Order: sequence, then C-alpha cells, then structure tokens
Amino acid sequence: MQTRLKLGELDIHRLGFGAMRASGYYRPEADRTNAIRLLRRTVELGVDFIDTADSYGLGANEDLLAEALHPYGGVLIATKVGRTRPSPTDWTPCGRPEYLKQAAELSLRRLKVERIDLLQLHRIDPTVPYADQLGALAELVAEGKVRHLGLSEVTVDQLREARETLDIVSVQNRYNLTDRDHEDVLDYCTAEGIAFIPYVPIAKGEHAGSQLLASIANELGATAAQLSLAWLLHRSPVIVPIPGTRSIQHLEENVAAADVTLSVEHYARLEALSPTR
Ligand SMILES: NC(=O)c1ccc[n+]([C@@H]2O[C@H](COP(=O)([O-])OP(=O)(O)OC[C@H]3O[C@@H](n4cnc5c(N)ncnc54)[C@H](OP(=O)(O)O)[C@@H]3O)[C@@H](O)[C@H]2O)c1
Repeated sequence: MQTRLKLGELDIHRLGFGAMRASGYYRPEADRTNAIRLLRRTVELGVDFIDTADSYGLGANEDLLAEALHPYGGVLIATKVGRTRPSPTDWTPCGRPEYLKQAAELSLRRLKVERIDLLQLHRIDPTVPYADQLGALAELVAEGKVRHLGLSEVTVDQLREARETLDIVSVQNRYNLTDRDHEDVLDYCTAEGIAFIPYVPIAKGEHAGSQLLASIANELGATAAQLSLAWLLHRSPVIVPIPGTRSIQHLEENVAAADVTLSVEHYARLEALSPTR
C-alpha cells in the first residue's frame, strides 16, 4: 500500500491528525499542557499533516498549534476559513470575499507563518456567488499568502467548477466505513489524483466501540479503530484520514493503523458492513 501522497508540491504521510478536539470547540477549555504534549507526540510519531480551522475554538486551535509546533519543521498545517461561530452550537458559512481574505490573514498571524501551505474553503456559502468565493481564494494564492487550495463538503459539480479556474489539491468531505454519501466525490478525486481527506474518519469514535469491527480486528491483532482507519487507507490511494483524539494512547493506536494490512477477504468483509450505496 502506498504510504505517502503528493499534495501539490508537498509530500505527506497518508495518515494525518485532526486537531479540532485539541482545543475547546468554542471557548478554549481543553487542558492546554496535555494538548501541547499530544500535538508534539503526533509529530514525534511521524505525522506530517495536521488539520485545523480558524473556527475551531474561535482561533484558539491555530494558536495552540503555533505554541506547540511552530516553526513546524516540515509538518504541513492545513487550515480552513469560511465558517463563523455566532454561538457555541452554530456553524454559519460566510463566503463574502472580504471576509475570506481577512480570515486567511488572521490565520497567517495565529499560525505565525508567511504562507499557509493548504487553505481549505470550509463551506461554500449559498448566499454569496460561488465565483466570488473562488475569486477570493485565487487572490490569496496570487498574493503569495496561500500555497495550495482545498475545498470541504463539496459535490463533484462544485469541484469541477472550481477546477475551471483554480488548482484544487484536496477535498475534505465527511466519509467513513459506515458513511459513504460522498462515494462519487471520492471516485472523482481518485481518478484525478486529488487528495481526499475524510473527516470524522472513525465516525466520531463510534467505530472504536463497534463489536463487529472488534471481532474482525482481533483476527488481525488490531483494534476496531485501527481497522476502520486501515479500511480507509486501502479504499483509495488518495485518502488521507485525519482522526482526532485528546488521548496520547489513542493517538499512538491510530497512527499504528498505517501498519495494518488487509487481505482481499478482510477488505471484502468490511465492505459488506458499509451501508448500501
Ligand atoms: N471539514 C469539516 O467540516 C470537518 C467537520 C468535522 C471534523 N473535521 C476534521 O476531522 C477531524 C476528525 O473528526 P472528529 O475528531 O470529530 O472525529 P473522529 O476522528 O472520527 O473521532 C474522534 C472521536 O473518536 C475518539 N477516538 C479517537 N481515536 C480513538 C481510539 N483509538 N479508540 C477509541 N476512541 C477513539 C475520540 O475520543 P478520545 O479523545 O477519547 O480519543 C473522539 O471522541 C477533526 O479534528 C477536524 O480536523 C472537519
């Protein structure tokens, strides 16, 4: 199995880390000392792709990454803009070009970098012309503030439209063994060599507690969470899972999923657990 992936000019391990849970979602609430230890352990384990967003902890997540990892030493920090948090439970898209540009500027400042390696549009804002949102992203690249662009939660048509004017290197859509609504987007990304970053890769922890997965995992000397991640890694060579955790033990377990090899028979048994497509 291919263990690395070209993401534009960059080259990364195919198993990344989702940093969202490392800070509080809205107000900073996680144990900062533990969070910093966790992030540094992530890098020690060889992870070189970490996903964040300006909206995670209203900027606190990016601050935390900078505190723990700056100047990053070859670790690719992928952030996102385009969602606001008017309250702890609301995620509201905002794709006005001037807002997207300001948000990217603030991400640069918090991450303490001159250029964002991968900036993803967190959501397309249905109230703003799509072309205007894409135009803001293009300007950020032209100004040298962003190296590569990605999209999140998009359809194949939206991806195709963006690619008419922009080089899109990644797509971050919700996808895992039991949630395969974006199968067509994954197939398109696989055919076009675009990185596909499935978010909530172990179904927010649900797969780790699955007895069914645990019984198959047992045969391989693996855990249920590892099996779920291994299935993603085998599903397509462009997939880069970004499991999230606040636990160093779970982090180590998840990273080791890259070493789990699935036979054709095990892969087929896992496919059989997927919902009908
Ligand atoms: N683009 C988007 O719109 C979007 C939306 C949501 C998320 N994301 C990204 O996707 C990343 C991952 O999402 P997520 O964290 O919500 O979901 P996830 O990775 O599917 O699951 C995380 C949950 O699983 C638990 N867990 C992790 N590893 C485990 C293990 N080995 N054994 C048992 N439990 C385990 C964690 O709890 P513990 O802390 O106890 O381990 C946590 O509750 C986020 O960090 C974020 O970067 C993007």
